[in-house]
Amino acid sequence: MGEQLAGKQAGKQAMKQYDVITALDICVDLIVKGDVVPRFNQQEQLVDGYYLEMGGAACIFACQCAKLGLSTLGVGVAGRDLFGELALQRLKECGVDINSVRVCDSLRTGLGIALCKTNDRAILTYTGTIDAVEPGWVEEKLPFARHLHIASYYLMSSLRPHWERLAAYAKTCGLTISLDTNWDPSERWNGIFELSPYIDLFMPNDSEVMAITGEKDAFRGMEKLSGYFKNVVMKMGEKGAAIISNGKFLHIETITVELVDAVGAGDSFNAGFLYGWLNGLSLEDCLRIGCFCGSSNVTSQGGIKGQPGLEDLKKLQGIKLNSFIQTK
Ligand SMILES: Nc1ncnc2c1ncn2[C@@H]1O[C@H](COP(=O)(O)OP(=O)(O)O)[C@@H](O)[C@H]1O
Ligand SMILES: [Mg+2]
Repeated sequence: MGEQLAGKQAGKQAMKQYDVITALDICVDLIVKGDVVPRFNQQEQLVDGYYLEMGGAACIFACQCAKLGLSTLGVGVAGRDLFGELALQRLKECGVDINSVRVCDSLRTGLGIALCKTNDRAILTYTGTIDAVEPGWVEEKLPFARHLHIASYYLMSSLRPHWERLAAYAKTCGLTISLDTNWDPSERWNGIFELSPYIDLFMPNDSEVMAITGEKDAFRGMEKLSGYFKNVVMKMGEKGAAIISNGKFLHIETITVELVDAVGAGDSFNAGFLYGWLNGLSLEDCLRIGCFCGSSNVTSQGGIKGQPGLEDLKKLQGIKLNSFIQTK
């Protein structure tokens, strides 16, 4: 009898073939730099440079998870076009499981065109495949994962009405859940507090904390949010990151690096933090790994090129590596 029970539990464990599952906002970013303010009437103007890279907060997050060795399932849609091929190639190279990505004939791959001046940028977004994930596709995979990360909460608006139900179901399947909404273009910040009972890690940046709470001081805003969320993890760019967990506050500095661009820093941070958290490391070590991933990210163009792998992480001083669980 005892043996039977142990066998059943082992079976339940074995079903969890993924450490992390996330719904992907598949798109590419075209970043154009220089004299980028368009002059109409068919004028041609020369720019300084450009680059094209896979974008999407969830995609960048998934890549960083996989690079750190977490077994990561992405559920998404790619267009049957060159940009879709690029995004799929990047996800695959980084080690993300893309067996649950559908390639679609009728949708074009999402595109963000960022026009970057020295101190400002404008972004033109074509949604396409970004918002094409169906809730049932996520639902059917939830029992096989340990953790659900919800990214791009506002851009993936078709999924938004379903997250509460999906999160409740994820809980019955034993998953922990993290949420990084990113900025809400409507600035209404609807839906967050309804989801809060299911969220183990809420991961906004400081601007988002201030916008959600109406507080001018991000730390005070964080305190307010900690009344709703078990753990509030706040990213603060070059000022590092902080957490309030069970009333305990901790802030750590990030690593000083030469900034190339900040695309994806928060998403890489999330993955690094989560890597530590899923491995049962201290909150301080989770923040340190998050900052390590975020700061490495900003040293290269785009969201994935600068992301560290597990070997780079091992160089981080003072983290007790022997406590890391082998995830594969
Ligand atoms: N200029 C920077 N120098 C060093 N680290 C940075 C820099 N910008 C971001 N980071 C790291 O990346 C993390 C996330 O970046 P942040 O810009 O706060 O998130 P988001 O992209 O969500 O706005 C920060 O907590 C920090 O550790
Ligand atoms: Mg962010």
